[in-house]
Amino acid sequence: MSKPHILVARKIFPEVIERLTQHFEVYANQDDNLWTQAELIERLQGKDGALLTGTQPVNAELLAACPQLRIAANMTVGYNNFDIAAMTAAGVQGTNTPDVLTETTADFGFALLMATARRITESEHYLRAGQWTRWSYDMFAGCEVHGSTLGILGMGRIGQGIAKRGAHGFGMNVIYHNRSRLSPALEAECKARYVGKDELLAQADHLVLVLPYTPESHHAIGAAEIARMKPTATLINIARGGIVDDAALAQALKERRIAAAGLDVFEGEPAVHPALLEVPNVVLTPHIASATVPTRLAMAQLAADNLVAFFDGRGALTPVNT
Ligand code: DGY
Repeated sequence: MSKPHILVARKIFPEVIERLTQHFEVYANQDDNLWTQAELIERLQGKDGALLTGTQPVNAELLAACPQLRIAANMTVGYNNFDIAAMTAAGVQGTNTPDVLTETTADFGFALLMATARRITESEHYLRAGQWTRWSYDMFAGCEVHGSTLGILGMGRIGQGIAKRGAHGFGMNVIYHNRSRLSPALEAECKARYVGKDELLAQADHLVLVLPYTPESHHAIGAAEIARMKPTATLINIARGGIVDDAALAQALKERRIAAAGLDVFEGEPAVHPALLEVPNVVLTPHIASATVPTRLAMAQLAADNLVAFFDGRGALTPVNT
């Protein structure tokens, strides 16, 4: 029996390609070319499955043009590149990589919060530019982290990891808002209190966004929401760019309507809104929250495992549609 044909759309770990070749005919983009949608469609011809990196849209156009495709395996936990309804209607399985990146991503969320609150990158640039000539009492005075109020919007696994770091490591008062409330046991474990979105915005000293990107969460944080935040607050986004109105945020940062922001994700990335590059009180990183070698390897392996299990007839391990 001939092996299923798989496209790996971006460069990934050679050992994962090697594992895939034991099960499939593999066409791997190890040159890491950035394909347009038309180029992706062209390369998907005759393929039964695809390993994707979360940026390639799997939409009605692609599905209609690739009738042989049976599974799209993201090596990301987010799957806003999938049109779930269209995939389900076309009988195409989607999978993601939950759990394996939770703690690494929560670590990064906290690192970004710390860097933003304590002005670490801004002060490093100052030092490197040779501007540090004397001590002064308010030089790079930032926001307190320990004992402050940590607000979390989106309380899935990563949100819970951030809550635990804040509550147990930094004695923070943790409040959260989510589509559904956690069980009392999980709330106790995270030492987190459920509040409405307005209270979250008004009370948080540090507001961390960890919610999925959906049509409902598009620009969930815009000018009106920022206006409800404390002028001393920070905003941290490790979720998806489209959740924040970056133009409104840049304006608010410029006018110091909030103290600072830390952003790992951007609407239209890798492009960054030019106004964000002009303000000093924002820490900008290139979507690296899950980027440690062991975690990225685990993500790639889980995506590969999903393909193997699916074509073995065992069913996908971490399906996002059924
Ligand atoms: C994810 O897994 O969704 C991350 O954003 C990619 O690193």
